[in-house]
Amino acid sequence: MAVAGCTAIMCATALLAFTGPWADGGPPTGSGDLPVLARANGVDLGVAVAVDPLLGDGGYRDVVGGHYTSVTAENTMKWDHVQPERGVFDWSGPDAMVDFAEAHGMNARGHTLLWHNQQPEWLSRGEWTSAELRGVLREHMEALMGRYQGRIGAWDVINEPFEDGEPFLRENLWHQVLGEDYIAEALRMAHEVDPGARLYINEFNIEGGGAKTDALYALAADLLDRGVPLHGIGFQGHFVHGQVPGNLAETMNRFTDLGLEVTVTELDVRIAEPVSEQAVRDQREEFRHVVAACLEVPDCRGVTVWGVSDAHSWIPEWFPGYDAATPFDEDYSPKPALWGMVDALSREPSGRSAGRTPRGRRRERTPAP
Ligand code: G3I
Repeated sequence: MAVAGCTAIMCATALLAFTGPWADGGPPTGSGDLPVLARANGVDLGVAVAVDPLLGDGGYRDVVGGHYTSVTAENTMKWDHVQPERGVFDWSGPDAMVDFAEAHGMNARGHTLLWHNQQPEWLSRGEWTSAELRGVLREHMEALMGRYQGRIGAWDVINEPFEDGEPFLRENLWHQVLGEDYIAEALRMAHEVDPGARLYINEFNIEGGGAKTDALYALAADLLDRGVPLHGIGFQGHFVHGQVPGNLAETMNRFTDLGLEVTVTELDVRIAEPVSEQAVRDQREEFRHVVAACLEVPDCRGVTVWGVSDAHSWIPEWFPGYDAATPFDEDYSPKPALWGMVDALSREPSGRSAGRTPRGRRRERTPAP
């Protein structure tokens, strides 16, 4: 069904009319118009991609290119992939992703520049002075951000800086060697390397508020007060079915009130096994809720789903006993969750300017470094 050029409301009407029977349990169709709806709402609807299926699996490529407006590198831009040996860079995966995005008229998000996981041994086991580690970080940023300057609009510069369930800064390599101001230092460095990129701190378990959220809020406020070039907060959004926080928009608004943008960067909703049909149906409302929360927040730039299908999701490996966390099943059939996102995007909230691209809505009052 082609609805190119329609307004959000027209698209929604056409889609709902076309897919009405699915509300009663039938198979969904027409969901390939999600990009039209997302763009009409001025947000990105993204997905994290893996390189091998992006290059070699037609079904995977169709899902990505047909349903989303942006892609994030699930793994291929992490240190262990990009710079497996010091000074030896592998651009095959990142190039493939960015080329795919451009060929399909999609945006690309960069993920990630400083993290405690997926560091190559030469980096994690190195004996670094602060000056040496600074040099290594600059080389990495200049190579990676520099290569995609103007092609990747937003970077998760700092990933998961707080302890898993705690409001304390994580004792990662960067913290240990550079000291706790490593976050400000890295953001300033990233801004020097690519002054046009939107620079994010990306974190999990912050979506419903609490001590960790408060600590991140205090950090973000302090960075902004000091003129550090922080532009956005990524709310990862790794949720458990039945526990998606109702106050997500409220939490995001706390950060946008500081002058930051926000993005839901890694959405999935894992379901405990055995996965019931009812749970899969109820997941629709949870995906709707998250996208609707983003639309409620004027400076929410979009929602990215973490994994193209349940066959490609990190959940079964990392959370044994859970599955079915994404909007497509293992055969690439859309699930009710996908329709939940259509539901949200079909109801354009007042105050959000339709038709503008997320890139076109950049905030200009970025603090000077
Ligand atoms: O690279 C090896 C490959 O050589 C080997 O053949 C294969 C065999 O299983 O494993 C490959 O490593 C896997 C790696 O992804 C691919 O680079 C690991 O097993 C796998 O555990 C690893 O998981 C990734 C995880 O980050 C690592 O921490 C997930 O795919 C990825 O979805 C996940 O992403 C993170 C975000 O970056 C940050 N937020 C949390 C999110 C979930 O952990």
